Formats: sequence, C-alpha cells, structure tokens
Amino acid sequence: MGSAGKKEGKKQKQEKLGPAWLDNAIFYEIYPQSFRDSNGDGIGDFHGIMEKLDYIKELGCNAIWMNPCFESPFGDAGYDVSNYYKAAPRYGTNEDLKRLFDEVHKREMHILLDLVPGHTSVNHEWFRQSLRPEQNEYTDRYIWTDSIWKEPAGYGSLRGISDRNGSCMVNFFSHQPALNYGFYKPDPEEPWQQAMDAPGPRSTLLEMMNVMRFWLGLGCDGFRVDMAGQLVKGDVDGKGNIALWQEVREFLDREFPEAAMVSEWGEPDKSLQGGFHMDFLLHFGPSHYNDLFRCEKPFFAGEGDVSKFVEKYLDSYQKAGGKGLICIPSGNHDMARLAKYVKGDRLKLAFAFLLTMPGAPFIYYGDEIGMPYVEKLFSVEGGYDRTGARSPMLWDRTPNAGFSSAPKEELYIPQPELADVSTAADQMEDRDSLRSEIQRLISIRQAHKALQSRGEIEFVHAREGVYPLAYLRFSGEERYLVVINPSDREEAFTGKFLLGDAVYTFGGRVKQQRGKVHVDPCTAGIYEIQPWVVV
Ligand code: GLC
Ligand code: CA
Repeated sequence: MGSAGKKEGKKQKQEKLGPAWLDNAIFYEIYPQSFRDSNGDGIGDFHGIMEKLDYIKELGCNAIWMNPCFESPFGDAGYDVSNYYKAAPRYGTNEDLKRLFDEVHKREMHILLDLVPGHTSVNHEWFRQSLRPEQNEYTDRYIWTDSIWKEPAGYGSLRGISDRNGSCMVNFFSHQPALNYGFYKPDPEEPWQQAMDAPGPRSTLLEMMNVMRFWLGLGCDGFRVDMAGQLVKGDVDGKGNIALWQEVREFLDREFPEAAMVSEWGEPDKSLQGGFHMDFLLHFGPSHYNDLFRCEKPFFAGEGDVSKFVEKYLDSYQKAGGKGLICIPSGNHDMARLAKYVKGDRLKLAFAFLLTMPGAPFIYYGDEIGMPYVEKLFSVEGGYDRTGARSPMLWDRTPNAGFSSAPKEELYIPQPELADVSTAADQMEDRDSLRSEIQRLISIRQAHKALQSRGEIEFVHAREGVYPLAYLRFSGEERYLVVINPSDREEAFTGKFLLGDAVYTFGGRVKQQRGKVHVDPCTAGIYEIQPWVVV
C-alpha cells in the first residue's frame, strides 16, 4: 500500500470512531418538561434550558441529550410524535430550538435530540391517512395485517377503529402504532409481512433520514435513538436492524460526518456494527445494571454483588472490540431515581464509578444533587411509575424551587417538599455536597486521558459478594487504579502493582501493605500506579 492508501486507511478508521468530541464527552440528560419553565405555564421550555446552560457547563458536562421535543399529544411524554418536523409549541418554536443549538455551541458544548423512529402517535397525519380504506401514500407506512380478525403475533395491535380491514401493530403503548421498516424474513404464510426492500418500508426509512437531515441541518449534533434495535420485525439476531442502521451510517458519513449517534439498544456488538458510536447499558435485559444501583441490595448501597455486572460488561466490552462506547447512565426518565436506593455519601461513590468508567457518562438531570424519587404520584403523560423520577428540577429555595412561577398546583409534576431536600443552589455553596464532588470527579476525568471515554479498562477486583471494586484505567503510559468501597467495613485485596500518588480520594484511607491494598469503609480513590511493577 502506498502512503496515500495508508493515509486513507487511517482516515477511515478515525471516521468509524466518530466525532472527536466524544472522546471526552460527559452528557447531561434534560427532560424538557421538568427542567426550567421560563414563561410560568408550569412546563419547562427551550428558553428555560437556555437560561441554565451555564449551570450544566459549570458542573463540567459538555454535552446534552434532550428527550423528545416534537409536536405530540404527550400520551408517552413525547415518545408519541405527531409531527417530526415541528417543535412542540409548549417548548417553543423551531427558531427557538435553533437558538438553543446556537447557545449550546457558543459554550463549546453539543446537543443530541431524541429520535423516535419506531412509532408515531395515533394523531400523526401519516397514521390518519394509513387508517383509510382507500390505497394511498401512507397505506404501508405502518405494519397492518390483512384482516381485522388477525393480530400480529407477539405484538399488541390497534383494531376496529377505522374502515380499513386489518389490525395495526403497536410498539409500546396502544396509541403508538409501529412504523413499517419491514420484516427480516417475511413469513410466506403471512403475505401482509413486507420485506425490508418493499416500497412501504423503503419510503419509511427514507422519510426518517429526511427527519434527521432536517434537524442536523438546523444545527443539532446528533441523536439518541429510541428502541433502535427494534425497527425491523422478526429479526431475532439483529441482522436486519444492523443493515438498516448501516444504511443510515452511510448517509450520515456522506452528509453529516460529525453527527453523533447513541442507541437505546443494549447490545453494543450489534449497535456499533450498525454504525452507532455509543450504546446505552440498559436497566432491563441482561446487563445487571440494576445490581449496582436499583435492586433490593444494590452494590453501591453497601451489601450487594458487582460480579455479574462486571462479567456482562466485559463480555460486551470485548465484543465491541474497542470500536464504540458503552454508556452507563446515572439514571434516566424510565427508572426510579438513583437516590431511591443509594443514599448519602454512597451516592458520591456511585458517581466515582460512573465518572471513571470507559464510554461517555450520562448524568440524568437532578441526579447530581441526589434528587429523590417522588413516591405515590398519579401518572403524568404516560409516566406511570416513572413519574416520580420526572419531577421538576430543584434549583433553589424560591417558590416551586425556582422551576416555575406558576401556581404550585399547575406544575407539570409535583415536587418533593423543600424541607426534606437540598437544591442545586444549596449544593453549589457547599464544598462537601454531592454536586461539588461530581464537579471534582469530572475535572479529574477531564485532566487524565486514561480516565476518559476511550481509555482501556482491566478489572482487578470484582468478586462475587465481596468488596471493594477495583480496576485499572490506562492509555499509553498513563495508568491509574480506581478503588471503590461502598461497604461499611474495611476491605482488602491483593494487587500486583505499586500504588503511587493519589489523584483523587474520598472518605477514608487506602493503604498498601505487604502486597495487599486496604480500603477504609465508604471510601474511593484514584491512584497513579507504577507500570506493572510486581510487589
Ligand atoms: C423508550 C423511552 C421511553 C418510551 C419508550 C417508547 O424506552 O425511553 O420513555 O416510553 O421508548 O417510545
Ligand atoms: Ca413553559
């Protein structure tokens, strides 16, 4: 290969890894309804987010994922889109959203929108057209069986609501009809199942690429993609969905090579093959994520087990082959708040973990101040038990905790009593607060390449039912040991390396004595280590 060919090869490799800003990206997830209401109607909005960008930047986050903000009847908090090309009026106009992109960029930050390609709201014009018995452009935009008496096996369906003879497959709630991307292997006995390359599925995919083109053109930096691995149906090992996303990747490489893509898929070996740069570790499925944060005995609450999580993580990490990023969120809009299970200083230990792992960390708004899960709320906008994790941000001690000037009863979701909790303003003044600790951890991560997204990891101590958790992070010559002990006892493990200077410590002491590393209760530390010195 000539030198030009080599260069070309290198360039291709870089493109695969995605935009350079992902190497040290730390995301903040904004649930727009609940972040900051600038006009007193009780619901958060784009202007409110703009007012708080400096807050996010000061925390140390340099990227944002914003939940869906498109026109919607909000039967599933906006995951039921009725117009992909229009911002929901309650948040502002498309121009306001563009201004938000600009304000984000002015601060050298990036923002991902939430793309929901799998289904729409029943209110979407495509669906209204698709309901009609006469053949039209949208007849095959959704997945319909050929008879009202036949339901798609394994899925719920909408039926008997129009004169069209058929049942329409739904993806999630029964008001979210599934868009038609075809079946991986259509069943010849079921002629209504279309192939991926049939005209209906093709036009759905091309339209979704138009949606992406539209928002990337306005200045967003990429997308978090909802249920990304479930667009093509009957696709047991994911091959159809991988192929679909590979086509999207080609389109993005051609037109928007800087766009970042993160999938809600939970199988990095597949999603990264499909051209995503990052995949979330999900709180459902086989990840064991909940073993750490949300179960009867979470590891970070001091009496749990980390080993199954680590085993599964390593499996995914190896399968991903260093290609993309596995992202571990502090929480999100779909699960109970972290602070429901992990309390006090142990929250700091959980963040010591989240902010020293490979991949891009995602902090769910409010988790940086340990916002509580609000119990016993009525469901709001399809939240059900997720509602308590979506309550408005606690900014300060002014009315409605600085979220909104609306009367308390008109807030989107009730807030916890201020007497019982601390606010962002309280924590910003307190050097010992969770928020201050997170700020410190972020600045340490950002000062050491080995601790960032692409630094490698090797677990040193992650045994079943035993504390502490210890792992090495390295990149080139840089090597660090991260050790975290959420238990309330001193714990020790054997380490074949020499501990050097601490770059971070929290809680008690970490001591090395005769080949053993002893860690005080409720303690975390990051240490330089001498390269592979055996002691
Ligand atoms: C994803 C979203 C969730 C939504 C669902 C259906 O899991 O995170 O909030 O309800 O998809 O779109
Ligand atoms: Ca508002």
